[in-house]
Amino acid sequence: MKIEKVGVVGAGLMGSGIAEVSAKSGFDVIVREIDDASADRGRARIETSMNRAVEKEKLTADDRDAALGRIRFTTEVDELADRDLVIEAIVENLEAKNELFGRLDELCGEQTVFASNTSSLTITDMAAATNRPDRVVGLHFFNPVPVMKLVEVVRTIATSDETFGAAFDFARAVGKVPIAAKDNSGFVVNLLLVPYMLDAIRQLERGVASIEDMDAGMVLGCGYPMGPFTLCDFVGNDTTLRIAEIMFEEYREQRYAPPPLLRRMVAMGRHGRKAGRGFYDYSGDAPVALPV
Ligand code: 3HC
Repeated sequence: MKIEKVGVVGAGLMGSGIAEVSAKSGFDVIVREIDDASADRGRARIETSMNRAVEKEKLTADDRDAALGRIRFTTEVDELADRDLVIEAIVENLEAKNELFGRLDELCGEQTVFASNTSSLTITDMAAATNRPDRVVGLHFFNPVPVMKLVEVVRTIATSDETFGAAFDFARAVGKVPIAAKDNSGFVVNLLLVPYMLDAIRQLERGVASIEDMDAGMVLGCGYPMGPFTLCDFVGNDTTLRIAEIMFEEYREQRYAPPPLLRRMVAMGRHGRKAGRGFYDYSGDAPVALPV
């Protein structure tokens, strides 16, 4: 099982990052987006990130150009037919993912491995909807993908050793450190991280301290790179809400239940940094905490 040709479906925050690290590591990459405008946004995101890496002297201009030359964008799913590995990074919705994998199952050759970058759905639910459950695996990257070193490689009870090994090797080949996880909703990191983020919001609801002070507490007291509210805004409050809903549905445990304030924030469009507003307002030079 040799992986050379990679397909990435979805060029949002995660998909564009996965395409970027794959191309930088020498893989031939096709990225599929739903329309030209989304594809253009994905390409711009990758270019901005690679330019930043050049500025920070992590990448040479020649290597950037070569990597960009290895990425092709398309709006046609059919063009993924010859890929050795297809990684989906589309919306966190099982129906949408199953529809995509169903289509790919008909199009792709027998050798193609399907991977999902889901953060909270189970890989088994996707594998069961294909005729190749032994060749379906989880490859969960972290945001920002070019910077974060971890990839969770997730096996179901049906994933073959060969598929798991190929996915593990692929994660290493794109410069990441893989860890093996079983197919539990949240895998390893979100299982621990999501209750922490939700708990911070609950403590805010209780009026324990201000947003800025709780963030400062975790940065200065524990050495975390960012506090919980900055992290919520960074991940996206809509994304965190979706993850919490899926994990609560799976475990029915209070610690995964989305706090009311999180729902209110999302209802008001305060989705975080990408929306310009979340727990903080990002319109000025420095973020300013907003009333909750
Ligand atoms: N390409 C390559 N390298 C880059 C880069 C790029 N586009 N952009 C930045 N870098 C490098 C920089 O050169 C720097 O490297 P150095 O330390 O060797 O100099 C390093 O990345 C950090 O970059 P910056 O100095 O520009 O930025 P900060 O120091 O402010 O760090 C951060 C930014 C990496 C985002 C840091 O704040 C952080 O680690 N935050 C926590 C992120 C986190 O927790 N992510 C996980 C979210 S949960 C998730 O993704 C799971 C999902 O399912 C919800």
